[in-house]
Formats: sequence, structure tokens, C-alpha cells
Amino acid sequence: MEAGALATRLCVAIALCLVSLNCVRTDNGLGFVSIDCGGNASYSDANDILWSPDGAITGIDGVVSSVSPPAYVNTSNQTPLSSIRFFPGNQSKYCYVFNQGIVQGRAYLVRASFWAGSKLPYPTKAENSVSFKLLIYADEWDTVSITFPQTSREIDKEIYVFALRENIEVCLSGHSAITDSDVPFISSLVLRPLSNSLQPISFSVNYQNSRPLMTVSRINYGARDPSDYLRYSGTQQVGYSDIYDRIWEADTDGTLVFTNQSIVSNVTTDEVPIPVMQTARSDAESINLQFQVTPQSWYFYCAYYAELDPHVIASGQRIFDSVVSNKTTQISETYDIFGASGQYSTFLAYQKSGIYVDTPALNFDMKKTTMSLNGPLINAFEVFMTFDKDLSLGTIDVEVLVVKNISNSFGNLSTWRGDPCLPYPYNWVVCSSEERPSITEIHLENQDLSGDIPSYFNSLGKLTVLSLASNKLTGTIPDLSSLLKLTFLDLHHNNLSGTIPSFLGKLPAIKEFVMHCRDLRNNNFSGAIPQELLAKVSTSELDLRKVMSRIKFMHKDDARLRY
Ligand SMILES: *[C@@H]1O[C@H](CO)[C@@H](O)[C@H](O)[C@H]1NC(C)=O
Ligand SMILES: *[C@@H]1O[C@H](CO)[C@@H](O)[C@H](O)[C@H]1NC(C)=O
Ligand SMILES: *[C@@H]1O[C@H](CO)[C@@H](O)[C@H](O)[C@H]1NC(C)=O
Ligand SMILES: *[C@@H]1O[C@H](CO)[C@@H](O)[C@H](O)[C@H]1NC(C)=O
Ligand SMILES: *[C@@H]1O[C@H](CO)[C@@H](O)[C@H](O)[C@H]1NC(C)=O
Ligand SMILES: *[C@@H]1O[C@H](CO)[C@@H](O)[C@H](O)[C@H]1NC(C)=O
Ligand SMILES: *[C@@H]1O[C@H](CO)[C@@H](O)[C@H](O)[C@H]1NC(C)=O
Ligand SMILES: *[C@@H]1O[C@H](CO)[C@@H](O)[C@H](O)[C@H]1NC(C)=O
Ligand SMILES: *[C@@H]1O[C@H](CO)[C@@H](O)[C@H](O)[C@H]1NC(C)=O
Ligand SMILES: *[C@@H]1O[C@H](CO)[C@@H](O)[C@H](O)[C@H]1NC(C)=O
Repeated sequence: MEAGALATRLCVAIALCLVSLNCVRTDNGLGFVSIDCGGNASYSDANDILWSPDGAITGIDGVVSSVSPPAYVNTSNQTPLSSIRFFPGNQSKYCYVFNQGIVQGRAYLVRASFWAGSKLPYPTKAENSVSFKLLIYADEWDTVSITFPQTSREIDKEIYVFALRENIEVCLSGHSAITDSDVPFISSLVLRPLSNSLQPISFSVNYQNSRPLMTVSRINYGARDPSDYLRYSGTQQVGYSDIYDRIWEADTDGTLVFTNQSIVSNVTTDEVPIPVMQTARSDAESINLQFQVTPQSWYFYCAYYAELDPHVIASGQRIFDSVVSNKTTQISETYDIFGASGQYSTFLAYQKSGIYVDTPALNFDMKKTTMSLNGPLINAFEVFMTFDKDLSLGTIDVEVLVVKNISNSFGNLSTWRGDPCLPYPYNWVVCSSEERPSITEIHLENQDLSGDIPSYFNSLGKLTVLSLASNKLTGTIPDLSSLLKLTFLDLHHNNLSGTIPSFLGKLPAIKEFVMHCRDLRNNNFSGAIPQELLAKVSTSELDLRKVMSRIKFMHKDDARLRY
């Protein structure tokens, strides 16, 4: 690894922490953030990955449950697969936000894992299965669908994503947002900084306007044991641990070729761990690899080869055609691994512009050429599905910050994180339908809100409806004079005081202002009704009938003017 790259990584690692957790330490100088959902303490696992529990995150919602980890996990070690957090509330989304040390434009691996063992501790719509949405920023990322009992391994959803800004938001979306969706759960969530020169990343930069890539498969061929998955292992031996913590699935099919020789990678930017490259699958004639994919989508693959056979000592001794096909087109290339990279040295092949696949399978066929002494060989293979659109930039930036400020002002809005409008709006907002939406309505009646009304609402220039009725709000009416589109303001059934501010009469669009109803807990405004408001009444810009029924002038048992 270059010194510069190492220095960058170290800096990122030092700065990287999840702010809401009291600064999650990263363990290994690689900038890893690893969240054990439902966990109750920090620990290092058998791979020397430092896990932090999510319970300390401010405003974390949900319910924790312990589960039996999968059989492959050595239970003498702590594992994030022994607990889950689920979200039975009816928020449209529950979000985890990585917001320390995130570098805008840098690529990150984000992996959410799901393991609940034999069954979930809550009912779902269909017996023995669960389905809910996973979101990345303001977009749907994938649907998590699991049938119980889960066998062998957890479900991993992995995405390579470029940070849109100095945070990365991952949300779970359950039943109130989408019909036929269940209460969501999660076992763990990790963030791994990637190098932007890593092959699938540079593909996305060059051909895809930096869209995210979703991992379909990552396979280590020629593995000796089906449980022998490889990932970050904490080893200090350079090249033997996956520095991006990619998980390489073990494939034991076909004729196994392996070596104890160290493999030199002259595709340094991909940094496939040496143990992955030390094993391969080969065949005297042909190898067919088939990957289940979603049809009508674009895919990108990386095929990793290294000549491991000591008898192959020159170019031309192992030549094979490789054919990637969809229904109509075959993309064929001929490879000579030794010729490309010599012995014990990685050669990477990929189709640089991606492949459109219109069938449910991506086929990759390798066939010996007639003149070749040996058949094909393959060490490792990755398949990525490319995002079918650019990531949404979401609600306009300033309104995101305003909504965040509003949420922070009220204790029980702190569970609302992620984009206020997309892909599903918060339960208490209505948004415009623009590509980058604005907040047009806020409905926070009956939410047990207390304290002063924050001044932030005044920055939501597109707001037409603001209802804060039936809370325990105190203090005076703040400046809302910039809400030029506001038609309806409802503050009744609170404990507000002070005067009715004159700006209310100057709001050009105001049609209705509800400040008082005959009930027990009420506002206690004093002073005169501002002339501007009365003027509105007289010019009938403000519906007089509504004003009479909604603005109550006299309190029945008080001679003074009260509202
Ligand atoms: C963590 O929680 C699990 C499940 O609730 C419990 O079995 C375990 O004893 C707890 N561990 C600690 C260290 O509190
Ligand atoms: C399980 O982990 C413990 C503690 O790390 C270790 O001593 C033991 O050898 C492991 N067992 C297996 C089967 O890997
Ligand atoms: C869910 O939302 C509905 C209204 O949308 C509300 O009546 C209900 O109390 C909510 N349930 C929970 C558990 O918050
Ligand atoms: C690889 O090393 C192991 C022990 O480290 C040895 O048993 C085996 O024979 C070696 N294999 C080859 C192909 O050199
Ligand atoms: C790998 O190294 C070999 C020999 O040093 C060279 O011919 C080949 O072009 C290199 N391959 C790549 C992909 O850099
Ligand atoms: C098959 O793939 C090729 C190459 O990506 C593409 O040009 C062609 O349009 C695809 N065929 C169909 C039917 O999608
Ligand atoms: C959000 O609140 C902070 C702290 O009060 C303030 O500095 C900032 O200007 C506010 N941002 C917006 C957009 O309201
Ligand atoms: C705030 O708390 C109240 C009472 O506990 C609850 O009814 C309401 O749903 C909460 N509001 C939000 C937006 O979570
Ligand atoms: C309303 O506010 C007044 C003073 O601001 C306070 O004394 C009173 O307890 C409050 N009432 C309620 C119901 O919160
Ligand atoms: C209403 O406000 C007036 C003064 O503005 C104050 O004297 C009175 O005590 C308040 N009433 C209640 C019930 O808080």
C-alpha cells in the first residue's frame, strides 16, 4: 500500500465515528464503523472487528431481542448475530446515520445484515416470512424478504455508495409506509471506506455518473470447505485479510487448484486477499457460471484469475474463451492468464461498460480453445447490479436542516431521521412533488410537544399548513412573517401566551388562524387583535364566518380582551 493512501486511511480512521454514539472508535486504522443492532456492549469479535451497540444512539427507537446465532458462528465469541432491533412503531422510516468522518464523493461499502434464526419475536402478515424496505438516503435500495426458519447464514444486503454529503443514511421502512410490508428488523450495519480506484467503483464513476452498485455475488472458487468464507480477519500479514471487509463466499464445485505461493497482484487497486487468489476452480474443457439476477437491469462483473498450476510455464498453454450473454448478444473475449500477468499473479477481467441482462440469469461461460493444452480456470468472481437511476438528492438542503432543527427542538421528534420527504415522507409532513421537494404542510397536532415554538418554522417558505394544535406548547408566537404561502395556522389547545403578533395580518395567503377553542387547557393571549388582522377580516380576505367561529374574542368569564 502506498504511504499516501495509508496516511489518508489513518486520518479517516481517527476522525471517523458515529456522532450520535459517543464517538464510536474505529478499531483497525481502516475506518471501519460496525454497529451491532440490539447489542448491549462494545466488543471485538473473532475477526478483530470492533462492534458498537446501537442502544446509545440518541433517539434510537425500536425493541431489542436476543436470537441464537447461526451454527457457523463460534459461540464462544461475541457476534452481532445474537441480537436484533425491530421497529414496531408506525414511523414511515427508521434511520441510522453515519455522520462523522464521511468524505463527500468518496465510495463506501455499506452492509446491512439480517438474521433472526428460527422465527421473529413479532407477528408478520404472512406466516414464516417477513418483508420490508431498505433505503439508502432518499431512495429505495432493496426489499428485504426472508423466510423462516433461516438456515445456514444471515442475509446480507451490500451496496457501494458514493457519499452525497458528509453523512450516509440507511433506513428501514415498515408497514405504515408501504402496504404489504412488515415491521422491519436488523442485526448489524457496517460502513467500510473504499478506494475510489477500486474496479467496480471506477466503472461507476466512468460510465454511470457515480451511481451506487449493489453486490449480487462475491465468490471465492476452489475453496476447500463450504463454510470457509473469507473477509477482514485482523491479521497483520499484508495481503491476507480483506482490507475492505468484503465477504468472499466459498465455492467448492469443480476441480480444485490451489497453491501455497503468495500471489502477486498487479491489479493493486483491487486488493483481493491472497487466500482468495490461492485457490481456483478449473476444468479440462469448460466452466459455466450462472448468477441469479433481476432481469432488465445492468450488471457489472469482475473476474479474477491467477495461474496457479506450476506446469503452466509459458503463454499459450492455457487459453480460453469467455462469453457473457444475454438473450440476443454474446460478448466474447479470449484470455491467456500467464500471457496477461505471468504465474502466481492476478489478472482482472471485466466488461468495462457493464452488461444489460434481460433474463433472470447472468451467464459466464469459459471454454478451452482448440489449441490450448489446458482448460479454463477461475479464482474469484464478483457481480454487481447497477442502480437504475442517479441517487436522489432529496428534499432541498436548507429544509432538511430546518426539519432537523425542529425535530431536535422537541424531545419526541428525535426518532425522525433521514430525508423528510423521500422516498416516503415523515408521517407529520406533506411535501411538494418536485424532484427536490419542499415541505408544504406540517401536522404536529396531539404529539405531546412542550416548550417554546421554535423560530425555525419561519424558514419553510413553501409552507401552507402549520398545525401545532393540542400540545403543551408555551411561550409566545414566534416570528412566522416569512411564511408567505401560509393559509392555515392552528395553535389552539396549547398553553401559549403574549400578544397576537401583527405579522399575522400581513401574511398574504392566510385564510384561517385557530388559536382558541372552548376546552380546558387553552392559550392565554392578551392585548388587542392587531389592526392588520382585523383589516383582513373587513376586506374579507379572511373568511369572516371562519374568523368568528375560530377566533374567539372574549373569554366568557373574563372582562378583559382575551383570545
Ligand atoms: C446482553 O443482552 C443479552 C440479551 O438480552 C443478554 O443475554 C446478555 O447477558 C447481555 N450482556 C450484557 C453484557 O449485558
Ligand atoms: C472458538 O473461539 C474460541 C475463542 O476465540 C477459540 O478458543 C476456539 O478454538 C474456537 N473454536 C473453534 C471451533 O473455532
Ligand atoms: C400509528 O398512526 C396512527 C395514525 O396514523 C395512530 O392513530 C396510531 O396511534 C399510531 N400507532 C402507534 C403505535 O404509534
Ligand atoms: C501447502 O502447505 C501445507 C502446510 O502448510 C502443506 O501441507 C501442503 O502440502 C502445501 N501444499 C502445496 C501444494 O505446496
Ligand atoms: C500484470 O503484469 C504483467 C507482467 O508484469 C503485465 O504484462 C500485465 O500487463 C499486467 N497486467 C495488468 C492488468 O496490469
Ligand atoms: C445484450 O447486451 C448487449 C451488450 O450489453 C446490449 O447491447 C444489448 O442491447 C443487450 N440486448 C438486449 C436485448 O438487451
Ligand atoms: C439549525 O440550528 C442551528 C443551531 O441553533 C442554527 O445555527 C442553524 O442556523 C439552524 N439551521 C437552520 C437551517 O434553521
Ligand atoms: C410523541 O409522544 C406522544 C405521546 O407519547 C405520541 O403519542 C406521539 O406519537 C409522539 N410523536 C411522534 C412524532 O413520535
Ligand atoms: C401554562 O403556563 C403557565 C405559565 O406560563 C403555567 O403556570 C401553567 O402551569 C401552564 N399550564 C399547563 C397546563 O401547562
Ligand atoms: C394569562 O395571562 C395573564 C397575563 O398575560 C396572567 O395574568 C394570567 O395569570 C394568565 N392566566 C393563566 C391561567 O395562566
